[in-house]
Amino acid sequence: MTLSKPVANDVHAPNPNTDEIRQQLPLVSVRNLKVAYNEDAVVLDGVDLELFPGEMVALLGSSGSGKSTLMKSLTGFAPVSGGEARVVGFDLKNLQRGQLRDVRASVGQVFQQFNLVGRLSVLTNVLTGALHNAGPLNLVGGFTSAHRKRALELLDRVGIAHKAKDQARTLSGGQQQRVAIARALMQSPKLILADEPVASLDPKMSHSVLELLQQIAREDGIPVLVSLHVLPLALQHSDRIIGLRHGEVLVSAPTRQLDAAALQPLYEHDAEEGDADGALAA
Ligand SMILES: Nc1ncnc2c1ncn2[C@@H]1O[C@H](COP(=O)(O)OP(=O)(O)O)[C@@H](O)[C@H]1O
Ligand SMILES: [Mg+2]
Repeated sequence: MTLSKPVANDVHAPNPNTDEIRQQLPLVSVRNLKVAYNEDAVVLDGVDLELFPGEMVALLGSSGSGKSTLMKSLTGFAPVSGGEARVVGFDLKNLQRGQLRDVRASVGQVFQQFNLVGRLSVLTNVLTGALHNAGPLNLVGGFTSAHRKRALELLDRVGIAHKAKDQARTLSGGQQQRVAIARALMQSPKLILADEPVASLDPKMSHSVLELLQQIAREDGIPVLVSLHVLPLALQHSDRIIGLRHGEVLVSAPTRQLDAAALQPLYEHDAEEGDADGALAA
């Protein structure tokens, strides 16, 4: 079932290129996806998902609905047990030797806990993004001056070039997430997956990090799939929303057609589990 509700006053700023986007080929095309860890653990069933160049898509659903599993399945960290999954030009069900590495090199990932190496400098953390494409390199000595120049440009782009020499662990959460985003960009990704990237940040930082991701989607023309558990953030910072409920897609619509009431069914009966309140908080 797909829920979508027209909204009279369109307060969102839709991606100006939405119509053009749909005429391009999707970077991710998932049909009838099933993910089962074993016979008793079918986590996703019948999931359809397409991601187009330049769009920011929010993935919603209460805890345990399958958001992280869906993201993991796109990079082969969760099994594609049924259906079809094409990601950045590869058929995940028929990968040739070495192609899984190519898929992962093309997908930039951003995580809730940033996953930086705290004792290393901000610059070195960004440089490690280049390792995906470069084969084995000496972590400190093996980067070229071109790598360093690019890493510094990316730090400038995410607004923290002045922190390049600092140890990553000395930065605030919002700054660390910007480093993680610069590291993902260092891969020259064709797709970015961000799993709860603002769950550890305060509201102001959350907005600015999501704005940055949305800007990257538009400027670089790559899809960004971002899981969120705070509805107002999703409504404000996405072009489209996919809502999961118990491993199935319950909502799939352009964000400008949705409001909090239309998304409520994603969290129904969760109140006693203490989940809905958090999701609906501003
Ligand atoms: N490796 C695994 N083996 C078995 N079950 C798993 C595994 N990973 C996740 N699950 C189950 O899959 C369901 C969805 O989890 P997850 O994708 O983490 O949801 P979300 O990110 O929406 O909170 C949960 O019931 C979880 O227990
Ligand atoms: Mg999760």
